[in-house]
Amino acid sequence: MSVPAMADESNSQQIARGRYLAITAGCNDCHTDGYMPTAGQVPEASWFTGSAIGFQGPWGTSYPSNLRLLVHNLNEEQWLERTRQPMRPPMPWFNLQTMTEQDLLSLYQYLRSLGPAGEMAPAAVAPGGEVNTPYFDFTPRNLPVTADK
Ligand code: HEC
Repeated sequence: MSVPAMADESNSQQIARGRYLAITAGCNDCHTDGYMPTAGQVPEASWFTGSAIGFQGPWGTSYPSNLRLLVHNLNEEQWLERTRQPMRPPMPWFNLQTMTEQDLLSLYQYLRSLGPAGEMAPAAVAPGGEVNTPYFDFTPRNLPVTADK
């Protein structure tokens, strides 16, 4: 009898840890519409539903994925695999790669606990392709000649 109770407690601790990481690692900044402009004043019910406002730069146009739908369709193993892959800018995937497996799994459990919601983000568009959504222009300007991006 005591085993399920302990499992529940450790699961809720893992979810709380994941929520803390998601906030402090800044995942909402891009993956939650309106989070940055309102200094975080977005109800948690809408968190991590992704965005149809793109980021455009030398990589083309990318859209922050709906992480709630993503985790809904992945098991833990697939989530670990996905978060170890390179991604388009401005996703800081190289930072995510430094996260411990335990923390990545806490993030997964937290995102799962929110439940699936919202729409899939639009597919990324290659450089020069036609973009029919609003987007932020991340084109580098007047960089020193030593910078290569
Ligand atoms: C500066 C904006 C930004 C921040 C901050 C950010 N992301 Fe992203 N993220 C993106 C964009 C844009 C994409 C789409 C990348 C692509 O098209 O390859 C993405 C993609 C992803 C994907 C791949 C989703 C898929 O559909 O396969 C995961 C997982 C992810 N982000 C998790 C996170 C987590 C966890 C954090 C916080 C640690 C985070 N992101 C912070 C912008 C951001």
